[in-house]
Amino acid sequence: MRVLHVVGARPNFMKIAPIMREMAKYPHEFEQILVHTGQHYDDNMSKVFFEDLELPQPDIYLGVGSGSHAQQTARIMLAFEPVLLEYKPDWVIVVGDVNSTVACALTAAKLGVKVAHVEAGLRSFDRTMPEEFNRVLTDHIADLLFTTEPSANENLRQEGIPEGKVHFVGNVMIDTLLRHKERALALNILGKYGLESRGFALLTLHRPSNVDVPEVLAGILDALSEIQARLPVLFPAHPRTVERIREFGFEGRLVGMQNLRMTEPLGYLEFLNLMANARLVLTDSGGIQEETTILGVPCLTLRENTERPVTVTQGTNTVVGSDPQRIVAEALAVLDGKSKAGRVLELWDGRAAERIVAFLSEVAE
Ligand code: UD1
Repeated sequence: MRVLHVVGARPNFMKIAPIMREMAKYPHEFEQILVHTGQHYDDNMSKVFFEDLELPQPDIYLGVGSGSHAQQTARIMLAFEPVLLEYKPDWVIVVGDVNSTVACALTAAKLGVKVAHVEAGLRSFDRTMPEEFNRVLTDHIADLLFTTEPSANENLRQEGIPEGKVHFVGNVMIDTLLRHKERALALNILGKYGLESRGFALLTLHRPSNVDVPEVLAGILDALSEIQARLPVLFPAHPRTVERIREFGFEGRLVGMQNLRMTEPLGYLEFLNLMANARLVLTDSGGIQEETTILGVPCLTLRENTERPVTVTQGTNTVVGSDPQRIVAEALAVLDGKSKAGRVLELWDGRAAERIVAFLSEVAE
């Protein structure tokens, strides 16, 4: 079976890595091709993950870069179609919910190439979020859908997707976390930033709804100003966020926060070490809500909703929105010891990729 894997943006790399590693165990059964769309192209948004995760170099790099949603999606489709025509894969595997995911799924489906979607069925029910369209469209295109949590199976059932296509396999991103945790913890990243274990908050911020609107971003910075007065905050900043801070003239606010340290985006292992050692994580990322749950570290999600409800009902995640007073109150509550204990979640056991490859293997027979 010839399988073409697609990656494009930062959160894709840790999801594809365990699937490729598992398939590589069966070289007589699977021929693997890795395509990188180039949606993310900076070394610290892409290259460092190939090194940290021991991913093979992409066989094909499309180099599409940044642009509006229509431009980026269209460029990926235009560049991906000839690759499909040349390589004629039996399956295309797409992961997550980024523009590369939907663009490649649609291109493949229109050429009659089968599509498997890993991390299917998640829904925020918030269509102001670009990823929500990517999720819904990819799921309705896909021939095989692999889910991470029971809510996803329920969402797909409600949308009329035949149950035979959907398989609850667990979470490939957690496969990667469990595989690399020891290596990550061996790094001396705390020393590098002068931090102590459980003595700091870790922050990430990149959603357009938080960083593209000056009033919202200003409110979040106000909240951070109060939080950093209580404990150091480390902030590896996404390029979009750095751009907006500059554009809105907010650099001065950050300079005033002596206990908040902004850095470049970090590699996978360094960031995993920091998450595992943080007292508290503040984020608007999707994946980090899941990773902190498995690490048992309190997570405050600076969004109005989550497509990953199991992290709230069974994990360490609390959805707090972007209201500054609420963010500060919830952060102080965590510092006062009021946080949720995480649990081991069903099938988040490091073996999701094994299950996915077993299903694909069955389909091939
Ligand atoms: C994308 C995904 C989002 C995911 C996030 C993780 C979509 C719609 N969004 O958002 O779901 O959570 O990745 O990071 O697919 N830029 C650089 N260097 C890079 C990449 C981007 O400087 O290597 C800058 C560019 O100015 C670009 C902006 O970041 O315009 C946004 O990049 P883009 O890929 O459009 O979306 P993200 O915000 O990264």
